[in-house]
Amino acid sequence: MIRPILRYGADVLHQPARPVAGITDDIRQLVDDMIQTMYAAPGVGLAATQVGVPLRMFVADVSLGRNQGELIVFINPEFVERDGMQLEDEGCLSVPGFNATIARPNHAIVKGLDREGHEQVIDATGLLARCFQHEMDHLEGTLFVDRLRGLQKDLIVRKIKKLTRIGRW
Ligand code: NI
Repeated sequence: MIRPILRYGADVLHQPARPVAGITDDIRQLVDDMIQTMYAAPGVGLAATQVGVPLRMFVADVSLGRNQGELIVFINPEFVERDGMQLEDEGCLSVPGFNATIARPNHAIVKGLDREGHEQVIDATGLLARCFQHEMDHLEGTLFVDRLRGLQKDLIVRKIKKLTRIGRW
């Protein structure tokens, strides 16, 4: 089932998420819904908070479903290591119509559970490393907009407020 994606301003997007206590049928259903929702959007990643569930889990596929085997499900993910630096344009399904250049480590190793509850460790660079860090931010209640400063941030926040006011957000 495709679930509605919440937008910047929804409380659940701005609060830290809780760990998943166990891999139940409900959690597996949520994972499947998140995968369907991400591909339908389409997007390269989706965190549970974006569909209104404050749990530490996300799905990602930087090939947008073009390459088999690139779909990643992470439950209770943690960083093992991060280094390097990349500066790329970034957007978010919860902040449609906006993007900004964000600095992120170029390399990230993340460990956590997969859909079946098995431990996995994924060593990512470039776009996948960026995607992981963007989704990990979601689990802390941080959106890319929150990583901006000054005028750049004010401009986006002001536009979102205006869209909200006229009922188009
Ligand atoms: Ni996002």
